[in-house]
Amino acid sequence: MDIKSLEDRFNEKIDKDIRIEPKDWMPENYRKTLIRQISQHAHSEIVGMLPEANWITRAPSLRRKAAALAKVQDEAGHGLYLYSACETLGIERDQLLQDLHSGKAKYSSIFNYPTLTWADMGAIGWLVDGAAIMNQVPLCRASYGPYARAMVRVCKEESFHQRQGFEIMLTLCRGSEEQKKMAQDALNRWWWPSLMMFGPQDKDSTHTEQSMRWGIKRFTNDELRQKFVDVSKPQADLLGITIPDKDLKWNEERGHYDFGEINWEEFFNVIKGNGPCNKQRVDARRNAYDNGAWVREAAAAHAEKKAKKQQAA
Ligand SMILES: [Fe+2]
Ligand SMILES: [Fe+2]
Repeated sequence: MDIKSLEDRFNEKIDKDIRIEPKDWMPENYRKTLIRQISQHAHSEIVGMLPEANWITRAPSLRRKAAALAKVQDEAGHGLYLYSACETLGIERDQLLQDLHSGKAKYSSIFNYPTLTWADMGAIGWLVDGAAIMNQVPLCRASYGPYARAMVRVCKEESFHQRQGFEIMLTLCRGSEEQKKMAQDALNRWWWPSLMMFGPQDKDSTHTEQSMRWGIKRFTNDELRQKFVDVSKPQADLLGITIPDKDLKWNEERGHYDFGEINWEEFFNVIKGNGPCNKQRVDARRNAYDNGAWVREAAAAHAEKKAKKQQAA
């Protein structure tokens, strides 16, 4: 079949909302865009394990430790689904990891901020996992089959993360003065970086238009950010803590909250690798990879041995 008919068939599937599967023909740019987006997402899952792993041993009770441990394990699982989905596009996992370690591939800017107190575990679950859900629920309808299917399970687990985070915040806010202060301090530090998670403003987002046309993205960055602000404000009110934005107020006409200007200079600076923890995060991933070399070698040797045995039988 000539390229024109292949393209027509692909576009027809996109228009009819029929999923694209690994063996289907796809434009090279569609493949590249998906590899970039899915790998970025996979990297964010495994880098996202780091700030929270920091608190597993210091969580205030056995129940909190168990929940933190389970959550960090979930994130490892999300990374696994997403690396697997990405591999169906014809790229090796080793290559993806090399790109993370060399700084060529990006991951979510949010994980370059430090987790200073226990309340940060609450704020991260509530806001960061909350923002992730906002971003990811529409991806369950993404046009690429393996990505969309991976997202279904990821989203179920994210919604549990969000609720356990909110519950930590609620417990702190109903506790002593000091605990409530900790919750407020965590909100102060995590609010703006959470808004940045939705990416640059639509006018500065280079990939949005094409990705929307391909059904890889269903809403723009600004639309999702607005949705997030709209659901978070009443939640902050319920907690009795204040979102650190003096311009945040209900706009009757728009039917949405207005909010203040994001510090984009900070955002682009963190993306470029100059956030408070960028170096620490990438170093931790590199060390984990190097220290795990013997496991990969042992697994490969075991698989080879097993294959030989089967051949002999
Ligand atoms: Fe996750
Ligand atoms: Fe999560």
